Amino acid sequence: MPILASDSVEFISRSPAQTRRAGMRLGALVRPGDVICLAGDLGSGKSTLVQGICAGWGSLDQATSPTFVLVNVYRRLDGMRLFHLDGYRLSDALEAEDLDIEALISQGPLVVEWADRIQAALPQEHLWIALAWIDEEQRDLMISANGSRYQNLLAEFRKRVYGVA
Ligand SMILES: Nc1ncnc2c1ncn2[C@@H]1O[C@H](COP(=O)(O)OP(=O)(O)OP(=O)(O)O)[C@@H](O)[C@H]1O
Ligand SMILES: [Mg+2]
Repeated sequence: MPILASDSVEFISRSPAQTRRAGMRLGALVRPGDVICLAGDLGSGKSTLVQGICAGWGSLDQATSPTFVLVNVYRRLDGMRLFHLDGYRLSDALEAEDLDIEALISQGPLVVEWADRIQAALPQEHLWIALAWIDEEQRDLMISANGSRYQNLLAEFRKRVYGVA
């Protein structure tokens, strides 16, 4: 049961490295079945955050932008896989259905960029991360939990980042 868990955390990242580090902290906590949704304009830092998530999760591969494929798959030494979707290119709901998102989620964590574009095709329970451009070097990150699994995940993240639940 989440104790003292507020459903959101907001902070300002002051550099790409800081965004990547926040992603690493998060990536270390995700497990198969988890859905991490990212929303924010061009250049807000979604892919930078994914690079961190991927590294923190333990991927052997460097995260790249899913520009030419709909799904990027990253592998770990233990054989586990993490899936990275680009909702921008899947905004056609039919296309999203063709992809069988449920099948992906059953096999590993799923990270979705431009999640707002395919929200209807995504599970209602998820971690939602809204990124916003403040200035050249700063981004606002608002992380919200939808569902108890994500409240727990966020509480753990908060504990690791701030040292308190
Ligand atoms: N605090 C910061 N956090 C993240 N990125 C930052 C920050 N400050 C500057 N940047 C720069 O902003 C850009 C973010 O690009 P990134 O590809 O991560 O964004 P994106 O949201 O994935 O964009 P797109 O929608 O085009 O895929 C990079 O060039 C990065 O170096
Ligand atoms: Mg991107």
